[in-house]
Formats: sequence, structure tokens, C-alpha cells
Amino acid sequence: MTRTLWRNARLACFDGPQPWGWVEHGALVTEGPVLAWVGNVADPPGGRYDAEHDLQGALVTPGLVDAHTHLVYGGDRAAEFELRLQGASYETLARAGGGIRSTVAATRAASDEALFEATARRARALMAEGVTTVEIKSGYGLSQHDEARCLGVARRIGRELPLSVRTTSLALHALPPEFAGRADAYVDAACDWLAAQHAAGLVDAVDAFCETIGFDPAQTERLFAAAARLGLPVKLHAEQLSDQGGAALAARHGALSCDHLEHLSAEGIAAMRSSGTVAVLLPGAYYFLRETRLPPVAALREAGVPIAIATDHNPGSSPTLSPLLMLNMACTLFRLTPEEAWAGFTRHAAQALGLSDRGRLAAGLRADFVVWDSQHPRDIAYRFGGPNPCRRVVFGGIERSPASSPP
Ligand code: NIG
Ligand code: FE
Repeated sequence: MTRTLWRNARLACFDGPQPWGWVEHGALVTEGPVLAWVGNVADPPGGRYDAEHDLQGALVTPGLVDAHTHLVYGGDRAAEFELRLQGASYETLARAGGGIRSTVAATRAASDEALFEATARRARALMAEGVTTVEIKSGYGLSQHDEARCLGVARRIGRELPLSVRTTSLALHALPPEFAGRADAYVDAACDWLAAQHAAGLVDAVDAFCETIGFDPAQTERLFAAAARLGLPVKLHAEQLSDQGGAALAARHGALSCDHLEHLSAEGIAAMRSSGTVAVLLPGAYYFLRETRLPPVAALREAGVPIAIATDHNPGSSPTLSPLLMLNMACTLFRLTPEEAWAGFTRHAAQALGLSDRGRLAAGLRADFVVWDSQHPRDIAYRFGGPNPCRRVVFGGIERSPASSPP
């Protein structure tokens, strides 16, 4: 197995008692796909190395984990953006059959190959800023055939790009036109599809949009029961536009994460604390929909609920492909500390996906890490819109090169 020494690094490990898990004079040893050793440059383990790299004091962090994306879709919603600027609201457009449903029409019309190419382009943009693991939801197919197609595209991204992909089934994203007025029948159908998706190895987790313009708590609960029968973990788009009690419901089902959460109540926070559910905050959607109600960051912090940050990349509410911009927005808009924002894109993001083998730099974990043109991660959270500081990316022990342009 290839044994490689990476020395002369400043390490932000997000592990151990130090703030940032900081090691000022650090080194890493990889053995094949695994971090064999992480520590002070003065005492790396002896023995023969197949390769050695001098990082000249550059910052090294864990590979970024984007724990909430809707990467697979056809078309775009630029025209809807213009309509919203003329005064139409996101909810009004959705109720009028636009919004998510317009993307469903474009997705159904796209070929497998076109969907794959569009998704790969988006994935490469995330990768260029240091993403090594991404969660990809379905939710723009909304038929058995098209949901499976979208999940299949997500799986193919994980096979063909140097990127780990976790898939999430999100059939309960909107009501497709063929089920108009028959939401409960659609929920029954979606529960049936889940078994087939699971049998085909297409699903790692199950999500729903619990909202006045989405599905109600009882319908969400039925889907979660179906997920439990299949042994699939759940997560929820909860409390984005109103308080539906979705977070508490998801927590009762042991949800990995509740996401958005601008309207989260004290009861929701208490329930998430007890179930160990991660709060995934999405500053891109907050910004792009010009929300004014902030997620209750101070209360989540006080309760000790782990906070993750993600791009929520999607064509309607968060068409960003910049995790680094989200780090900055998590600080400026949500008042997270730079360290909290970074933990939100590494350690806690991995936790939101139920993955304990990544998100930190520690012996025994996956060798997924990023070398930055920077000396401290706070510097990266502080800047926005400038040159990409991502210099080198190691994915499963192998350098993904060059990190800043598509492989
Ligand atoms: O996470 N809230 C629901 N889903 C997406 C938006 C989807 C869309 O508008 O296309 C979100 O914000
Ligand atoms: Fe989302």
C-alpha cells in the first residue's frame, strides 16, 4: 500500500480539544485511502515513504462535506428569479404550478445523458472548492421512473468522478400534476417506490418537504414509517417558511438532520437535542429568497445541537455552487463564528450524513483533505468572491489533480 508523508502543514483537524483542532507545525501520513497518522511534524512515524510532500506551511483541512444539495435537474429558473424581483413570491409561484414543478417538467424532458452532464458540471464546481463528499437528493422527477433516473444519475456521479456521493430520496418535494388534488394517493405511491429504489441500491436516506406548499406532518410521518420498515435513515426540510412542528416529528424518528429551520421552535430544538439530530443551516436559500427570519442559532448553540452548513444547491432557492461563499454567509448572515461555520462544512456535515469516517483529520479516517493557499481557515471564511484558494485535494489518499479545474 502506498505510504505518503505530507509535512510542513498547518492543520485544522476539527478533532481533539484544541480550538479548530489546530496543529501549528503539522504532518499527515496516508496509507492507501486512509489517514494512518496525524500530528506534529517533529515526530512522524519512521519507516519508508513512497512519496513525501513539503507543504511549506500551507493550511490543510478535512475535505468539505456538502450535506444538502439538489444537484440533479434539467433547466433553470432564471425567469422565475425575474418574476420574484417584480414582486411575485416563491410561494405564489409554487401554488401557480411554477417553482419546483417547472423544474420537474424540464427534468422529465431531459435525457439521462443530459442530466448526467449537467449534474457532473455542478459537481465539478463544488469539487473545485474542496468538496470531497456530497449529498444529492432526487425530487425533480416525481414519478417512479424519473425519481429512479435522478437517483441513478447521482450514483453514476459517485462512480465516475473522484467524489463520494450519498443519495437521498425526496419524492415528497412537490405534488406532481398527475396527482393534483390527490396528495394522499401520491404519498402512498411514493412509499411504494421507496422499496423499489432501496432494492436497486439507489437510496442512502429519505427526505421530505414538510411545508404548507409541500406535505403536511401526517403525510411526512407516513413516509418516515415506510423508511423505517426498510431500515433507511430520515432527514427533513423542516420549518423553512413556517413552523409545522416538522423538526420535532423528524426527531421522534431519529432523523440524521433537520434542514433550513428558520421557523424552528424551542420544542423543536429540545427534540433535536434529545435525538442527536444535526441542524443543517442553508444561508444560500435564506439569502436568495430574501428571508428575514433567522434560524435560532444562539438557542441551537446553547442546547448543544450540532450545526452544519450546506449549499442547498437547487435551481429555485439556492443556485449557488460555492461552498466557500456559504462559509462566509454563515458568518455574516447567521452570525456563526468562522470555526462553527467550518465545523459545519466538515465535522458536523459528516455527522448530518451519518458518516463517522470523515469530516475530521484523525488517524483511521478517510484520507480526504484539502491544501489551501491560506494560513488559517478564518481567512477563507472572511473573504468572498475572490480567487479560489483551493490548491490541492486528496481524495481517498489519491491526489485529485488539478483541484481547481475539472478532472
Ligand atoms: O431546499 N424547500 C424545498 N426545496 C428546495 C427548493 C426547491 C426549488 O425551489 O426548486 C430548498 O430550498
Ligand atoms: Fe433543499
